[in-house]
Amino acid sequence: MDRKAVPFRKTVFVCTNIRADGRPACANPGRGGDEICRLLKEEIKKAGLKDQIRVARSGCLDLCAQGPNLFLYPDGQWWSGVKPSDMPEIARRLS
Ligand code: FES
Repeated sequence: MDRKAVPFRKTVFVCTNIRADGRPACANPGRGGDEICRLLKEEIKKAGLKDQIRVARSGCLDLCAQGPNLFLYPDGQWWSGVKPSDMPEIARRLS
């Protein structure tokens, strides 16, 4: 086991869960979870923060009906009902 400090200043967890059984999920068709994750990664890269802020795909965060959801570690901020067009603003708030 190799224990070390967290290698990123912040990590954003973006729910990209998909369900095929009709229940809501952040990355179901038309909800945007996958696109949101991709766009946020692009915005972080454009801002030159790729080495400091990690954007990670996440499984279900348990607020499915309110999604798409993402949260920021270690800041403890949470966003629900995000849209792809929100990603530039969220990326600005992360820096
Ligand atoms: S599917 Fe995203 S919070 Fe549950």
